[in-house]
Amino acid sequence: MKYVLGLDLGTSSLKAVLYDVNLKEIISYNKEYPVYFPENGWSEQDPVDWTNALDEVISELKDFLKDDIENLCGIGLTGQMHGLVMLDEKNEVIRPAILWSDQRTEKECIEIEDSFGKENLISITANPALTGFTLPKILWVKNNERENFDRCRHILLPKDYIRFYLTKDYATDVSDASGMQLLNVEKRQWSNEIVEFFGIDKSLLPKVYESICVTGYTKENIFGHKVPVIAGAGDNAAAGIGTCTINDGDSFTTVGTSGVVFTQSDSFKTDPNGRLHSFCAAVPNTWHLMGVTQAAGFSIQWMRENFFKDLDDNSVFDYIESNISNIKIGSDRLIFLPYLMGERTPILDPNARGVFFGLSGSHSRENIARSVYEGVAFSLRNSYDLIKDLGIDINTMRITGGGASSNILCQMICDNYNHPIEKIKETNGTTLGVAILTLVSLGFYEDIQSAVKILEKNDIVFNPNVKNYEKYNDYYEIYNNLYLNLKDEFRSLQNIEN
Ligand code: XUL
Repeated sequence: MKYVLGLDLGTSSLKAVLYDVNLKEIISYNKEYPVYFPENGWSEQDPVDWTNALDEVISELKDFLKDDIENLCGIGLTGQMHGLVMLDEKNEVIRPAILWSDQRTEKECIEIEDSFGKENLISITANPALTGFTLPKILWVKNNERENFDRCRHILLPKDYIRFYLTKDYATDVSDASGMQLLNVEKRQWSNEIVEFFGIDKSLLPKVYESICVTGYTKENIFGHKVPVIAGAGDNAAAGIGTCTINDGDSFTTVGTSGVVFTQSDSFKTDPNGRLHSFCAAVPNTWHLMGVTQAAGFSIQWMRENFFKDLDDNSVFDYIESNISNIKIGSDRLIFLPYLMGERTPILDPNARGVFFGLSGSHSRENIARSVYEGVAFSLRNSYDLIKDLGIDINTMRITGGGASSNILCQMICDNYNHPIEKIKETNGTTLGVAILTLVSLGFYEDIQSAVKILEKNDIVFNPNVKNYEKYNDYYEIYNNLYLNLKDEFRSLQNIEN
């Protein structure tokens, strides 16, 4: 039997899943590493932590497969998007990677839109300048760490640094490249106009491939033979494949560290206001729109770590969820804005921060927990509503990601969308997605459609409860108004000298 390996370089851990050619999961690994927050609103990681995690996976996988390692016939890469990794002429990492969740580049975003023009920018890169994207990060380094900028010879996205580590190739894929703000998203190639305008030497950029292409082979000393590595995809585009979101209008929600509402499209579309991202999808010559909640699973983890520290790791979520299911919709009049890391959709505001609104002496930590779950659901509903407002007909809506293991959260999201949601059995949608792309690339399946056909379909279906939807509506209205009322105060708060 032949195998393929899906590697997902996530924000909290490296997930590695080995599949056979029938897409059966053989073994999986999860290696955690830290995120560093050197200043309020900044987030960084050390690429050495990533490669250490990868080394551990490779060594454990070789121990597991023993001689069968020769049957490892392909690797698919996916991971957190937008992060900036800079290498010098010796291929040494110049500074810690600046992550998708980092909010330090507000000034650079204003500079980009003022100098290039917002409409002009959207017409090429399909998106406005957003603090999480890679171009503003590159300009931040240029403006604040000139020496590092001058030393830089290669710019890579996080998963593509892993590719470099395995193969020595500088390459990326169209879906991940879309989040750099340097790609002409409709034409699926680097935009010379953007690159030249912002003074970025094009030779710094990796070669761009469609997700399904082989970009190179692992160095022979890693597995004892050369294993082809495919371009792969950003984590959301990969989850698109792994959740069978491959036809026009197919959609999914994912609750990982961030939360995403994603809809697949056969044609190139943009949100004229730029609140939804428009990126290349992993299915060749297709695109997707998506809205992003910066802190979805992150808010839930934050709540668990700060309010339920006393409870055991294995039972804490059982405890939380059995208790919050007894609390009424609206958490007894407590609303949470999940802006712990600024927010993207729909407010695009790096200065926004988390809020508990309506806190009363009668509230317990269980009320806080429920309001955090509800705040995450409201935020995802913002993205869902924007997609509908663009006139897109959402047909299937699936749900995946670590947060989807919570049935309570799935039902809240379903009630808020007022649309059925299918929870797929497969929670590793990202690694499955790149495993499918790898198998198609290597000729085991004729195309993506035939590969996804073999996936077992035993999804759990959540159906919306209209009464709940109506109850949530009252809170959702206040949730939306809260940001409008607090917008200026968020900015003033960030401007206070510490
Ligand atoms: C997407 C985004 C996040 C990261 C996190 O635009 O920033 O989903 O990819 O994994």
